[in-house]
Amino acid sequence: MKNGNFFGRRKGRPLRPHQQNLLDGLLQRLRLDPTAPPPVDLSQLFAAPIAAIHLEIGFGGGEHLVQALARNPTIGFIGVEPFVNGMAKFLAQLDANPGLIHNIRLYDEDATFLLDWLPPAVLSGIDLFYPDPWPKKKHWKRRFVNKANLDRFARVLKPDGQFRFASDIASYVEWTFEHCQNHENFTIIPSENDWRDPYPHWLSTRYEAKALREGRVPAYLTFRRS
Ligand SMILES: C[S@@+](CC[C@H](N)C(=O)[O-])C[C@H]1O[C@@H](n2cnc3c(N)ncnc32)[C@H](O)[C@@H]1O
Repeated sequence: MKNGNFFGRRKGRPLRPHQQNLLDGLLQRLRLDPTAPPPVDLSQLFAAPIAAIHLEIGFGGGEHLVQALARNPTIGFIGVEPFVNGMAKFLAQLDANPGLIHNIRLYDEDATFLLDWLPPAVLSGIDLFYPDPWPKKKHWKRRFVNKANLDRFARVLKPDGQFRFASDIASYVEWTFEHCQNHENFTIIPSENDWRDPYPHWLSTRYEAKALREGRVPAYLTFRRS
């Protein structure tokens, strides 16, 4: 499969046997296959009845996603992470908490392939937390937020669905703000504190913890799909 929007690392440290078993077993059970047509009713993707579907793109080690699953048993989550070690870490958390497995599906390639596979207006939320920042100007074109991906988000989000974006890189925050402002389907939801306050029930991710240690200030933007 070609790499549409993925420029990151696929693999880090060698996997332990248990992690490899989880990739061979649990991931294959939960993995979505965008080469097969999606079900007419997307809620059929989930083992339990669900009231809404959320997507998290690039979940890293899955710190936020595990907590979101535990807090929201009636929301179906789709998590996307092409970095094998991140996926393995997340699977280990699922394996330790089998009660969370009924409302999660996974994908381990570039999220744009999954976005193009989804039927229109099916998602209530899309989360993009600490996407690879590509801080050098010559790499900005690699950023996940761009016009084509906002068009993809607009197609799969329901009216009033939310796109949440967190980053510690000021130029990426401004970039996202401007791209959404220039997009006919997205409106920023104002914040009293310049988007400095974390989302309700926010659990810091691994990447955010590093940013805070290094003295960078995160922003937590939320856009509404009109
Ligand atoms: C900087 S890390 C942040 C991880 C996590 N959200 C956190 O806050 O700890 C960005 C993640 O996005 C993933 N990523 C990059 N491009 C992607 C793409 N096209 N589709 C899905 N995930 C992607 C990377 O593999 C990486 O794990």
